[in-house]
Amino acid sequence: MAIELYKDETHLCLKFDDFFKGTEVPSNQFLIVNNKWGILIDPGGNRLFSQLMAEISPYCPPQRLKYIILSHQDPDVGAGLNGWLLITDAKIAVSELWVRFIPNFCMVTLSEDRVIGIPDGGVELSFGETSLQMIPAHFLHSPGNFHVFDRKSGILFSGDLGASIGPEQENITSREEFERHVSFMSGFHSRYIPHSSACKRWASIARSLPVKMIVPQHGARFTGQEAVNAFIDWVEQLTGALG
Ligand SMILES: [Fe+2]
Ligand SMILES: [Fe+2]
Repeated sequence: MAIELYKDETHLCLKFDDFFKGTEVPSNQFLIVNNKWGILIDPGGNRLFSQLMAEISPYCPPQRLKYIILSHQDPDVGAGLNGWLLITDAKIAVSELWVRFIPNFCMVTLSEDRVIGIPDGGVELSFGETSLQMIPAHFLHSPGNFHVFDRKSGILFSGDLGASIGPEQENITSREEFERHVSFMSGFHSRYIPHSSACKRWASIARSLPVKMIVPQHGARFTGQEAVNAFIDWVEQLTGALG
């Protein structure tokens, strides 16, 4: 089922989160549509491909996908790429650190000339009549890691940062709800997020952006200034697995 994160006359942001029946880690997939052109963010593994394709088609036919953005290299992010490369003309955007790893997810000929390496400092990707900003988020948790900021909706797609496992709520909207939600995030962040310096750097970047919602690749999202600020404050004080 699609959860609508943002909608106006020309711009739509959707989250898909209910495909998981097996033992793999549950994850969120995202579609952004602007003037009939689409971008997929972190489309996930092989078993999701046909279901996700069916879900996005009413909003954006796969042939209208311009980019598929991978926040980082993990299998829950992009292991299903082969199918997407077969049925679309979309380009893959991923950290330049991971460009040579993409052929591991698909037939080699399919990825030729279709992978855009994002430089460490980030880049702006245009589609429809808008663009998305790739925000550097290295070591959160991957060494080549990008978050996606959609200025039109104010949504920051934060990859694994903010991941929660089995949360009670899908949408966290206040500091009080956030405090109750922390226990669903702590385990992941104490092991998968390595450095406190990366957390502090990210908090400073996030505060400089007009963020209205933060949506991780796993679990609940954070909506509104109070919840967004609570999340940024929490990330800033994380110690990380290595200090
Ligand atoms: Fe990951
Ligand atoms: Fe993940």
